[in-house]
Amino acid sequence: MRETLTDRFRFLRAFLANPRQVGAILPTSRWAVRAMLDLADVRRAELVVELGAGTGVQTGEILNRLAPGARLVSLEIDPDLAKLLEERYDDPRLTVVCDSAENLDAHLGGKRADVLVSVLPYTSFDAGLRRRVLDLLPVALAPGGVLLVLQYSPFILGELRRRFPSVQQTITPWNVPPAFIFVCRADAS
Ligand SMILES: C[S@@+](CC[C@H](N)C(=O)[O-])C[C@H]1O[C@@H](n2cnc3c(N)ncnc32)[C@H](O)[C@@H]1O
Repeated sequence: MRETLTDRFRFLRAFLANPRQVGAILPTSRWAVRAMLDLADVRRAELVVELGAGTGVQTGEILNRLAPGARLVSLEIDPDLAKLLEERYDDPRLTVVCDSAENLDAHLGGKRADVLVSVLPYTSFDAGLRRRVLDLLPVALAPGGVLLVLQYSPFILGELRRRFPSVQQTITPWNVPPAFIFVCRADAS
């Protein structure tokens, strides 16, 4: 409970310092995180990549589900939040990278993600950054891979449909505000 409150404070502080970059005043709820991760087979993934890890609400749940020999690469642009993630999760499967998602390719060592989780604030990105990051997503997915995107509006749906032949959406009410979850596949099957 204390950790949750401290994390909320850290998150709010990051938001106040850089509202457009953080894009939310609260971390995603654990119910929304679980609902999102239930839509992909994290247990069978060899490589999971997370974009915009924040205080680690997805990170911890991904590690709970991840197989012993698999890897998780978590990108977070805020140095304080990236440091928190490194200190909190002492797990050899995890690599925390403090860098922008637009440089994702440089951190995957030529590998592609079986599950790619994005909780980036696309609606507050400028158009150029949004396009650069979105253009990377299909390329970063392994064959048969799944992209999960959590957002607070459906604004991004058209952009995802332009890049993925299969996009499904759902809404989870168990978050403040209710969250849109998009499940995207590069192969339409
Ligand atoms: C809406 S918050 C989500 C945080 C966390 N995943 C959650 O669900 O609570 C967005 C996060 O993305 C990070 N972020 C913003 N722009 C980024 C970028 N270009 N590359 C990597 N992370 C970024 C922010 O610092 C923030 O931690």
